Amino acid sequence: MTKKNDTVLMKNRQKGIFHIAKTVFEKLKDEGIKTTLEKIAKNIGYKLKGIDFDAHELTSLNIKSDNLKYATICGSSSENTVNHVLNTLLDFEKNITKGKFIDIGSGKGKLLSHAYNCGFKKLIGVEFSKKLCEISQKNLSILGIKNVKIHHMDAVDFVFPRDTKVIYFLNPFSDKVFKKVLSNILTERKKFIYDIYVVYRAPIFNDVFLKFKDFKHIKSDLFNGDLTEFYLLKRAGK
Ligand SMILES: C[S@@+](CC[C@H](N)C(=O)[O-])C[C@H]1O[C@@H](n2cnc3c(N)ncnc32)[C@H](O)[C@@H]1O
Repeated sequence: MTKKNDTVLMKNRQKGIFHIAKTVFEKLKDEGIKTTLEKIAKNIGYKLKGIDFDAHELTSLNIKSDNLKYATICGSSSENTVNHVLNTLLDFEKNITKGKFIDIGSGKGKLLSHAYNCGFKKLIGVEFSKKLCEISQKNLSILGIKNVKIHHMDAVDFVFPRDTKVIYFLNPFSDKVFKKVLSNILTERKKFIYDIYVVYRAPIFNDVFLKFKDFKHIKSDLFNGDLTEFYLLKRAGK
């Protein structure tokens, strides 16, 4: 397990020729040649359409936020993992796609695009890098995904809408910021009209949830070596 301190403002290793070669080698080993070739073709297709889902170094993005030092990394989960996590969510509740799906730290919009393909049609991204917001808007528009709003702001200032249904965190920041975001959700709890599912992928700072007992742990899921924790916040009064 990576040490917690190492994960704050990590150097992004999800890029460069060695990362690509290593990923291709691992995929060939785990998934075979056909699936690997399909994935390579898909990534080339993204590039040809002008879609940019590459990993990015956060320190090069001129982000104006006191919370930059608590941010972790700009990357994304493998497509298999994302689809597995989203399908797990769909299994929890039949009507889960009715409310808003919110990706906190939405980066280049890759997760939002997968959520859309899995049936979530009310999408919100919150991202404190202006450049990443612009790239995600362009990516999602090329993919024909319209009903999505990207908020250029710090997650600690985001006001969750009353019809929030899913909140997704792919290890965006350390416990310092997490505490503030979870407190904000609880302060607003009375207004929510749905029970809210919280997904915490790559949950390095999972201990933070010990202090927020209203978020009930409902599932730990280990898939292809990727850990995800699921929590449920019941509507006030339920
Ligand atoms: C691991 S990336 C997640 C990308 C995206 N969720 C996906 O799966 O495709 C984490 C993102 O969180 C953003 N971030 C980190 N701290 C933030 C904060 N305090 N407010 C808003 N965004 C933040 C970073 O800029 C980065 O793009």
